[in-house]
Amino acid sequence: MSRSAHPAGPRHADVLPEGHYSPPPADLNRLDEKVWARTVRREDDGVVSVGGLPVTELAERFGTPAYILDEDDFRARCRSWAEAFGKDADVFYAGKAFLSRAVVRWLGEEGLNLDVCSGGELATALSAGMPAERIAFHGNNKSGEEIRRAVEAGVGRIVLDSFQEIVRVAHIAQSLGVRQRVQIRVTVGVEAHTHEFIATAHEDQKFGIALAGGQAAEAVRRALRLDSLELVGIHSHIGSQIFDMAGFEVAARRVVSLLAEVRDEHGVELPEIDLGGGLGIAYTSDDDPREPHEIAKALHEIVSRECESAGLATPRISVEPGRAIVGPTAFTLYEVGTVKALEGLRTYVSVDGGMSDNIRTALYDAEYSVSLASRTSDAAPMLSRVVGKHCESGDIVVKDAFLPADVAPGDLLAVPATGAYCRSMASNYNHALRPPVVAVRNGEARVIVRRETEEDLLRLDVG
Ligand code: LLP
Repeated sequence: MSRSAHPAGPRHADVLPEGHYSPPPADLNRLDEKVWARTVRREDDGVVSVGGLPVTELAERFGTPAYILDEDDFRARCRSWAEAFGKDADVFYAGKAFLSRAVVRWLGEEGLNLDVCSGGELATALSAGMPAERIAFHGNNKSGEEIRRAVEAGVGRIVLDSFQEIVRVAHIAQSLGVRQRVQIRVTVGVEAHTHEFIATAHEDQKFGIALAGGQAAEAVRRALRLDSLELVGIHSHIGSQIFDMAGFEVAARRVVSLLAEVRDEHGVELPEIDLGGGLGIAYTSDDDPREPHEIAKALHEIVSRECESAGLATPRISVEPGRAIVGPTAFTLYEVGTVKALEGLRTYVSVDGGMSDNIRTALYDAEYSVSLASRTSDAAPMLSRVVGKHCESGDIVVKDAFLPADVAPGDLLAVPATGAYCRSMASNYNHALRPPVVAVRNGEARVIVRRETEEDLLRLDVG
């Protein structure tokens, strides 16, 4: 996203087509630690390993395609977020990025809370033993049934997203004899610099209640009037895959000014603010993400400064990182099936997965990197497009990348940074079977989400 068209690489100056790619790296065999999970290495025999296990062995045992997740990295990232934000703040992992029962248990063990946005995510969280009070429930159109289950389970907070929902949650809580803790999600009018479909705080979109025109203040008024709701705070989420802190700072400032308005009008100081998720990760060597401690410091500073100048006590801050925790922890392992060199254009390398296991390239024009993982090669860099096996030409996994020119059927390719929004957005297009998620730790691998089977597909086909 940050890359500009590169004029021409050194070796292929005469044949490189226009495109958005960086020059080929000096050494194609080197793994840039920025984009790979922490325990990923290239071993002396040339094979890439994770958690001490070579990908050749993983492919043999679990098949391809497969998402391979570095459990130590996941846990370490949870801890750095928790430590960076400290005791006076809460970190909610956004389950939409990737959720499974193992993940819920890791979160529990590492002291994180969980944000869910559907009945299915709630069921997964509860079935893996996440205490309900550590769950926040999101969504712009939660069904009555979902709300009822969340209130009955005793979730720690429901984030209200519309005027209708204020009344809906209040009625359900009242009928269950519960006073439900809620936050109100506001749209602060910030243009986050990211893809339009993943930017969420500008006004012309479906989420939240606008600060502009006094809508959010009206929502607060209504929520405060309802006895079955305990309004504990204001929520803002400005978008996803964002590198620039400026948007978060503006959001924090605007949310604090709403808190001041609420205090002036109602004499109530709301004790919490949630600044959402959205921190970007490195998909390619050109991306430079922020570390959790930088983010925590910037947010704490801006909130305390703004509160001080408004004469408010500093509220408890929470954040909801999804991608920044799970994204970098996994890579997708594919096997090459065919290689087609298109003279003067690029080489199409087809793998055994595609848009059914990673829709992000097709949907957001996302950029990924790729490495030959089953061996090293001294062959010259070859401009490649890694494509899947689906029946459409937009089925692209990595749009522009350099692979060694001797890449051949049977080689294993690994695409890093696929932990977030890949398995969770996977589909059965062309009746593809969704790949497994294999967690690796200390030389041991275990399936945490198994590969789908044809029986799984046929079980739903009851006609
Ligand atoms: N909190 C709320 C209220 C959200 O809506 C989201 C993401 C998050 C937290 C987590 O955001 P993260 O830290 O993961 O950026 N499918 C898209 C991303 C959609 C994000 C939706 N909401 C993608 O693949 O880029």
